[in-house]
Amino acid sequence: MPDYRRRAAREAMSVRLDVNGMMAEAIGQAGVGEDELKAVAPRVSEIGHALRGRRSAGELPFYELPYQKETVARIKALAVEVRAETDALVVLGIGGSALGTKTIVGALETDRRLLIADNVDPWTFGKLIDGLDLSRTTFNVISKSGETAETMAQFLIVRDLLLRQLGAVDYAKHMVITTDPDGGALRQIVHDEGFRDLPIPAGVGGRFSVLTPVGLFPAAVSGIKIDDLLAGAAWMDTRCQDVAVARNPAHLLAALLYLADTRHKQNIVVMMPYTDRLTWLAAWFAQLWAESLGKGETVDGTPAHVGQTPLAALGATDQHSLLQLFTEGPADKVIIMLRVEDHGRELPIPAAYTDLDSLGYLGGAGLGQLLNQEQRATELALIKQGRPVITLTLPQLNAFTLGQLFYLFEAAVVCAGGLYHINPLDQPGVQESKRLTYGQMGRKGYEDKRAEVEAWAARKRKEYVL
Ligand code: PA5
Repeated sequence: MPDYRRRAAREAMSVRLDVNGMMAEAIGQAGVGEDELKAVAPRVSEIGHALRGRRSAGELPFYELPYQKETVARIKALAVEVRAETDALVVLGIGGSALGTKTIVGALETDRRLLIADNVDPWTFGKLIDGLDLSRTTFNVISKSGETAETMAQFLIVRDLLLRQLGAVDYAKHMVITTDPDGGALRQIVHDEGFRDLPIPAGVGGRFSVLTPVGLFPAAVSGIKIDDLLAGAAWMDTRCQDVAVARNPAHLLAALLYLADTRHKQNIVVMMPYTDRLTWLAAWFAQLWAESLGKGETVDGTPAHVGQTPLAALGATDQHSLLQLFTEGPADKVIIMLRVEDHGRELPIPAAYTDLDSLGYLGGAGLGQLLNQEQRATELALIKQGRPVITLTLPQLNAFTLGQLFYLFEAAVVCAGGLYHINPLDQPGVQESKRLTYGQMGRKGYEDKRAEVEAWAARKRKEYVL
């Protein structure tokens, strides 16, 4: 087991950012010129200084998550209890309260049954709860606000089931609540009903919360080394200390994606891991990039309407689906490829049909080798068409490298927020849909919202509905 306290172990397991395929030198006009990067560098440094100041002032607490001690001790102790009591953990949460955990358990080896319910589809949620032995299940209800309709509806269904099947004394032992330390309905319920709980630190929003109890508790219950996740994040933090853009992976990534969008009309960023195990990372990244950068106003209140549209893809599968569009369709995309050098397992391809040139060449190679060669080949195929590619290489996919990726993208998105001059930490655009839902579901105080929805339904013209 590598000891990440040693620098050599950290260096050997560093995630590498290769931006050659973004540069004009490699792909011509569609690429970012050295001059463009030089021109934006002072602004990125300025943003770096400002972020540093805000970090020191405690305004950006996600930066400090790799170093939390007390909460990690509490998470570990509670995970030991829960592992001893039950066989399965079911996470109830949505958006930032679910995607990080999905990413972690999708990427890493687990030794427990972990289910994540992040929607209110009655078919799938009904099937999920039908299949559970409630006496051997713990539910981890995760909501920062403590009032998200989807999560609260799931909570009410599960609580009722537990009460009916296990009784008013035992049911509470089957819940762990992760929520805001001070406010919200869930916090109130924790006080009233005595559920065990974990805090989501103030100032850390959903999409930045994977390294809080939101992601760390389910990970710890699943047998994942959360210390390695945090050590990876801390290592990326160390690597992102330099305010010079050329020596700061997060800021270089942010600067190049910003230039691609604003100077080269590449307003779509494709996250394409070449491993099934990072499929959910692409979804997690999509939320981070979309909710953080898709903004209608600058920080000064000037209309902005900015943001790069993230798109999740999977190598090699989507070479047979989306790649045609990426290669020859509109030149509006940057492709970020994630490559894993050592997949932790190799499956040899047996040699057979050696007389058939179209098949025989595969024999003796490995499946992981094929996957990685496909990544390399596709990178070049895109570059040859003048399509920008960034490659992130992981020596292995483990908790340490995954922790680096989380931190890299989080640090990159706040820097990109500075370049777009918007607030990457809020999400005003998702509030109205919540309010309209409350109105329709009869929440007190939202009667006008219900009327708005009904008025829209009444305004619809019949001839446009076929
Ligand atoms: O990133 C975000 O802030 C959102 O995606 C939230 O995580 C999501 O809306 C769920 O919110 P909450 O954790 O308050 O239930």
